[in-house]
Amino acid sequence: MAKIAVLGYGTVGSGVVEILDANAESISKKAGQPIEVKSVLDLRDFPGDPIQEKIVHDIDLVINDDEIDVVVEVMGGVEPAFTFVKRALEAGKSVCTSNKALVAAHGAELLAMAKERSLNFMFEASVGGGIPIIRPLNQALTADEITKITGIMNGTTNYILTKMSNDGSSYEEVLKEAQALGYAERNPEADVEGYDACRKIAILTSLADGRTVNFEEITTEGITKISNEDFAYARKLNSVIKLLATSYRKDGKVYAITAPFLIDTTHPLYNVNGVLNGIYVNGNMVGDVMFFGAGAGKLPTASAVVGDIIDCVKHKGTNVCVIWDDEKLELAPTRDEVRSFFVRVKGNASDTAMVKEQFGDVEIITVDGLDNEFGFITDRMTEEAFDKAASNVDMISRIRIDDTKLQ
Ligand code: HSE
Repeated sequence: MAKIAVLGYGTVGSGVVEILDANAESISKKAGQPIEVKSVLDLRDFPGDPIQEKIVHDIDLVINDDEIDVVVEVMGGVEPAFTFVKRALEAGKSVCTSNKALVAAHGAELLAMAKERSLNFMFEASVGGGIPIIRPLNQALTADEITKITGIMNGTTNYILTKMSNDGSSYEEVLKEAQALGYAERNPEADVEGYDACRKIAILTSLADGRTVNFEEITTEGITKISNEDFAYARKLNSVIKLLATSYRKDGKVYAITAPFLIDTTHPLYNVNGVLNGIYVNGNMVGDVMFFGAGAGKLPTASAVVGDIIDCVKHKGTNVCVIWDDEKLELAPTRDEVRSFFVRVKGNASDTAMVKEQFGDVEIITVDGLDNEFGFITDRMTEEAFDKAASNVDMISRIRIDDTKLQ
């Protein structure tokens, strides 16, 4: 019998307990032994819930319990999670976590601590919820050099953008609805400003490269400025607007960005809608691979955590090697990235001289009902050249275009 402790009895923690109970028999077979939740750390009590008899309020009761082999950290946030995870590893316990903030900030250090002690630090649920993406990068795709990762990695913002696209509702209306449905937090900043997706692409890029990406250095823009007018143009262009978290390697340099992008029907992520996530990976040998499914939610996320728990139990005494050093990966500057841009400018569509002077003979796009403005798509150009040209026109907004295609 393997005994575990769960830190945090919130959405994911209660999902972990539920799955270990519901699938106890098959999990026992796959782990080689039954897995029992011995204690659950939470500040709260849960009177009437069978979990109450396992609730503890003191982390020392977990750390000092020699029967506990695996600690499951599903509290979220960097502290006190980081301190608790370090203490668990120091005490000889493997750790599984769904906490992307923790992994993005301290992944390399915690992996090294686990390796030194022949333990494991696993974090499949930290990116893409229930979608397997960490293990594929660490195991199935290690023959390849990963050349590109592009994903819709945040369910909340994908829900909002999909609703805006389909229903024509405003950002504010859809955000309120998403909050009422529990898809968006009361304080939605981490999702809508792109911080959550930024941490996820930092984790995946670090794993793909083997060095640490500082998530604070990734250019990150959220979706709060995306408007119905932007979607009106997108529809005319047979396109949608998605928050993409992306990184790629070119000429020995690695670029990364999290921002809204316009993508057309031929893009592999065009049909990833609602709260679903999708992640496209290109390897230099395997070519294109796609991962798709539930990127958030109680049971999908807990499913990934329980998969890690089983792996930790199976590998007791053996470190499953993950290459992610604390050596820093310097990202190439976003200003050097080359792409096309969709631009909206103020003015009359018959008076495009200034736009054409700056951007060449671009095709002018107009939308019925949107007077005194027009749009156009630039040729491919660097971000730096775009910013310079855009400063000479009366720009309302611009959205980058991602032209990833399945090859
Ligand atoms: N807030 C995140 C999302 C949860 O919306 O995708 C999963 O990381």
